[in-house]
Amino acid sequence: MELSLVLDTNGSATLQAQVFEQVRTMILEGRLKPGKGLPPSRLLAERAQVSRNTVVLAYDRLVDEGYIESRGTAGMFVSLVLPDDLMSIGGRADGDRQNGVAKNGEADLLGFDGLPVGVMYPSHARPKYDFWLGRPDANGYPVRAWRRILVRKLAASGFSLTEYGEPAGLEELRVAIADHLGPARGMAVDHKQVIVTSGSQDGLNLICRLCNVTHRPIYIENPCYQGAAYLFKSLGHKLNPIPVDDHGLIVDNLPRDQGGIVYVTPSHQYPTGVTLSLERRMKLLKWAEETSSVIIEDDYDSDFRYDGPPLTSLAGLDRGHRVLYVGTFSKSLGAGLRLGYVVVPKCVSDAARNAKSQMNNGQPWLDQAVLAEFIETGAFDRHLRRMRLIYKSRRDHLRTCLEKTFGGADLKGESGGLHVAWRPPEGSPPAHEIQQRAYKKGVGIYALNSGGAHDFDGTASDDVLVLGYSSLKESDIEKAVKRLHQAVVGPAPDQCKKVS
Ligand SMILES: Cc1ncc(COP(=O)(O)O)c(C=O)c1O
Repeated sequence: MELSLVLDTNGSATLQAQVFEQVRTMILEGRLKPGKGLPPSRLLAERAQVSRNTVVLAYDRLVDEGYIESRGTAGMFVSLVLPDDLMSIGGRADGDRQNGVAKNGEADLLGFDGLPVGVMYPSHARPKYDFWLGRPDANGYPVRAWRRILVRKLAASGFSLTEYGEPAGLEELRVAIADHLGPARGMAVDHKQVIVTSGSQDGLNLICRLCNVTHRPIYIENPCYQGAAYLFKSLGHKLNPIPVDDHGLIVDNLPRDQGGIVYVTPSHQYPTGVTLSLERRMKLLKWAEETSSVIIEDDYDSDFRYDGPPLTSLAGLDRGHRVLYVGTFSKSLGAGLRLGYVVVPKCVSDAARNAKSQMNNGQPWLDQAVLAEFIETGAFDRHLRRMRLIYKSRRDHLRTCLEKTFGGADLKGESGGLHVAWRPPEGSPPAHEIQQRAYKKGVGIYALNSGGAHDFDGTASDDVLVLGYSSLKESDIEKAVKRLHQAVVGPAPDQCKKVS
């Protein structure tokens, strides 16, 4: 292939720097696409009339900085994931957006400058062993039971597929969810308080509408879940990050202003994995009561708790009706199902139903009908019990592999959910560098300002990485940890065997 470079022999920058910069710019502007081959150094040097060494050194620097990669005798290729994408949260949506800010006419047209949620690697560039957070095991989906119910529901659908349904959700499903939340999350809920949504993201959008968030101060954990941060930001909010420590959100740091909204993930903080202590839960509820504020509790992965009894949700402890609870089936069943729910205080259930009808008039009937029966018949509880055993075993295996390979494993967030936070041994490179090195070895592991997480002010610790273990088989976890070790310190000893 040809590369046309325009080099200034009288310029202040060296020829090598000019070659580097021009190739880098072509890559960043998308003129050289990921995976594209570059001309051999000798050919490019001839065309650009510079010494071969100039091109070789410029290529070396592009390799070092991650823009291109050498594939031995096949030559140089543009990297599949660029360093700028790797380190910018959410990556770049398209060539016209930079850091989520729309350029020129686009902003006038759309009036929206939000970032896409949870986008990091294009599908062709996902690492072979990806510890991406919160992915259920695809082989665990209860396909047979689902198919059986689905075929039956479809045959008996009557008017259900041709008429509008209840915007707040199918009654059977709302009842099933309310019944599930009693024993599972300590919540005494009437089904009218349950609004079925398209996953948590839709639930958060519903809450934003319901609470008219544009005019209220918003407090959010730092670091936090990208889906919530980007949504609040896209609605024009100034977000107020509140730091998280080993006991969760530092509630004492919440201002005493009236009428605020705080977003929390108390069961398994995203991304650090810590649990909001009981003392802080009570303090947070008291703060909400005293400041007439609202708490959004995102309880995304609490179906999975391995050690000890389930924790009562904030909504279960709430006596002042200040908690809006967001639940999802994205972790327990699968994100592709796009089903979740919001539980609102009784006093706003009609308003929530009306808001939902304005947004999209409810969720597809068939999916709701199948899920309702799946829960009612006890199949959901059986599925959860089965998946808990699988995920617990994967978590244990990950811990064993890390311990044996690195001589110890400093982990947080192990008692539940689908991911852990890992602090590599002292003397290891910073987390963002480990992430990059691991990626090159085919392993996806994520710093706290990366993947699906957001860090507002660069204060998230750069010596912790998060690993989602739920979608990786134990044999793959083993291989991934060996590669991770090579990425951090060199070849790993062959010593992590399955724990019984
Ligand atoms: C904190 C948090 N909330 C919610 C979700 C699930 O989002 P949804 O239900 O929209 O798929 C995730 C998924 O990763 C998450 O990490």
